[in-house]
Amino acid sequence: MEVRRLGPVVGLGTYQTFLDDVALANEVVGAAIGGGSTVFDSSPMYGPAEESLGAALHERRGAAVVATKIWAESVAEGRRQYEAQLGFFGRVDLQQVHNLVAWREQAAWIAEERDAGRIDRVGVTHFDAGGVEGFEEAMRSAAFDCVQIPLNPVERECEARILPLAEELGLAVIVMRPLGGARDRTLRPGPPVEALAPLRPFGVETWAQALLKWCLADPRVDLVIPATSKPERARENAAAGYGPPFGPDERRFVEELAGA
Ligand SMILES: NC(=O)c1ccc[n+]([C@@H]2O[C@H](COP(=O)([O-])OP(=O)(O)OC[C@H]3O[C@@H](n4cnc5c(N)ncnc54)[C@H](OP(=O)(O)O)[C@@H]3O)[C@@H](O)[C@H]2O)c1
Repeated sequence: MEVRRLGPVVGLGTYQTFLDDVALANEVVGAAIGGGSTVFDSSPMYGPAEESLGAALHERRGAAVVATKIWAESVAEGRRQYEAQLGFFGRVDLQQVHNLVAWREQAAWIAEERDAGRIDRVGVTHFDAGGVEGFEEAMRSAAFDCVQIPLNPVERECEARILPLAEELGLAVIVMRPLGGARDRTLRPGPPVEALAPLRPFGVETWAQALLKWCLADPRVDLVIPATSKPERARENAAAGYGPPFGPDERRFVEELAGA
């Protein structure tokens, strides 16, 4: 999978949203696909979310790109996680090293899987990519095709070095926490809907859509992966992948509304 070739798009994250509720996962995933989302991100760290996502995708697997992660100190445990994922998804399209854990060891065997054609891309993630030691080293190691990093109007540490480096190295960029994360309420509920009127010509009806379009307007960003437990929000978020892109004025307007 070439994440870049997907263009600026909205996918679906799965952290703490449907856990082991397969019926809910089915509804949310169905709504996301119906809305035009094709990329689904998970991890063994999210408990039963991978298995629920796999069950929800099932007959829709052909319409989806599965991005998941290896979160293990040892290669043996990493390979066990991969075996389980093959059971859930049939195939992993984008395999990422979660939070830099044992990244050299895990990236080595994941790259062998890629080179054998069994996965498409290798990525690396960190929830504090702009601050944690070692992320830039991992990016420069040539082990990875893409990075997953946090970015939103009040969490912009990655703009200083990580995004420029990704551009220099030609790495695709996936944005986690585009709505500010599951627990931090700084960005939500956001301003009243009337305040969004200047963004209507860009197809924006809601604050979440404004935040997602803000991320996608950075030309270095390929994919945003908001998570939700609500089918109607999966549709709403997917719609942010359409309509005219924001320019610098609209981005600044969203930053002002966010109090950034
Ligand atoms: N280290 C890592 O690799 C790492 C770390 C963090 C995240 N991630 C990935 O990135 C994904 C996204 O990050 P995240 O889940 O932390 O944060 P997020 O997507 O920024 O925020 C998720 C929260 O936003 C709410 N939400 C979603 N759509 C909404 C809408 N349209 N209107 C209002 N609220 C809405 C959800 O609540 P409802 O359920 O009530 O809609 C949920 O609580 C994760 O699910 C995961 O796949 C990876």
